[in-house]
Amino acid sequence: KYAKMVVDKDFKIAEIDKRIYGSFVEHLGRAVYEGIYQPGHKSADDHGFRRDVMDLVKELEVPIIRYPGGNFVSNYFWEDGVGPLAERPKRLELAWRSLETNDVGLNEFAKWSAFVGSEVMMAVNLGTRGVSDACNLLEYCNHTAGTKYSDLRIKHGVKEPHKIKTWCLGNEMDGPWQLGSKTPVEYGRIAYETAKAMKLIDPDIELVSCGSSGTFMKSFPEWEAVTLEHTYEHVDFVSLHQYFGNADKDTSNFLAKSMETDHFIKTVIATCDYVKAKKRGKKNINLSFDEWNVWYHSNQADQDIMKKNPWQKAPGLLEDIYTFEDALLVGLMLITFIKHADRVKMACLAQLVNVIAPIMTEADGPAWKQTIFYPYLHASKFGRGIALQPVLYSTKHDTKDYTDVNDVESVAVYNEERDEVTIFAVNRDLQDAIDFSCDVRSFENFEVIEHIMLAEDDLLLVNSAVKQAVAPKQQNTTTVEGGILTTSLMKASWNVIRLG
Ligand code: AHR
Repeated sequence: KYAKMVVDKDFKIAEIDKRIYGSFVEHLGRAVYEGIYQPGHKSADDHGFRRDVMDLVKELEVPIIRYPGGNFVSNYFWEDGVGPLAERPKRLELAWRSLETNDVGLNEFAKWSAFVGSEVMMAVNLGTRGVSDACNLLEYCNHTAGTKYSDLRIKHGVKEPHKIKTWCLGNEMDGPWQLGSKTPVEYGRIAYETAKAMKLIDPDIELVSCGSSGTFMKSFPEWEAVTLEHTYEHVDFVSLHQYFGNADKDTSNFLAKSMETDHFIKTVIATCDYVKAKKRGKKNINLSFDEWNVWYHSNQADQDIMKKNPWQKAPGLLEDIYTFEDALLVGLMLITFIKHADRVKMACLAQLVNVIAPIMTEADGPAWKQTIFYPYLHASKFGRGIALQPVLYSTKHDTKDYTDVNDVESVAVYNEERDEVTIFAVNRDLQDAIDFSCDVRSFENFEVIEHIMLAEDDLLLVNSAVKQAVAPKQQNTTTVEGGILTTSLMKASWNVIRLG
């Protein structure tokens, strides 16, 4: 078994939009309350934001964060979350059958995002609300002053507009679980009218039209074709959502699932381009992969909470504890996004804190890093620059649902500013280390800066508040000689090989 690759300065896919390393905070479970915000916690600042969480988010260098949902947004009344705290209503939150206190709203979230150095990607409610509510929210956020909603923001103590650039036109509107779900024509119409009006208010914004909730939807990709025919003129992106699990405990099959991500992306690109051709359009619709992750560990517990014990404030929902193998799949999905850097311009790891998240918090204790924190960190830190077309040959294997699965998946990124190349590689083989060579002759005199890896014998190893069992290690045997890199990729491993 072996893999060999050629990367060349001139084989460019595209400049990576850093927003592919985005994330997501929804008013769900303990993401906001006990996650980013917990007044009274020993690490809380004067605003009630947990400093320990902010430090970890800053370490991840998250460029953009989607907010406030998710399913939550489809019955959200943003006005409940602004103005004096004492006057904010408590609400039954129907998407997750929880109690929403509205202690945190958009102004607090925008402040927190600025503290952690992230942009906000705001979603509007197109489930139970419509065009005028979206316009009011945009006026409140982005208009300078002198109008009803901009002056209301100023009255609420926020003089400068938030200038939020990226807006999602609803969330998963095809899903029957969504409050106010719609047929493709119903959604296409309301999204078109909302987009048109929002761009009149602020022509500089970018809009994301809802794609399918996943490839499992029977209406995929017809949904994209029909809705984009309505929205094409006024939107810039279409959304993709995808979650994977390993309920069958078949790791080889699980690690092959990133091939579905690749196929999903190609299908959506083809559908966007079909609509473009039909419209005799000039612009491309790009892809916003604004929900993706592993999600399955907590499913049963969540059903129990929502059915048997609803209307709690910040219940422990979607608290997946991630294994080492989950980190490998997260790495594989990141490699797939980089390979499609010419069309995937945004992506949000769903989510950021406590809810299917790389960062967890203890209510009375510290914040800590899950296994998936690391591939996300490495890609965000070292995956900025130009995505290079990998000419990759790898030996292959078959799994229960997939054939011709590459033993090694890999991509490289050239950062011109730092004059560094980073090769990301996953060895999917569960038994053997694999010899990997890479021709890097176009990068004259480049040497190995470091080879970081995640490699564990126990695929089900997890981290916790007291133990970082899964953490990066250095691999010290990687060399470059005569422009050829050679190394051994340990069985079941995530690898980040930095050259400069
Ligand atoms: O991220 C969790 C949920 O998954 C989101 O609320 C929803 O959009 C998706 O179904």
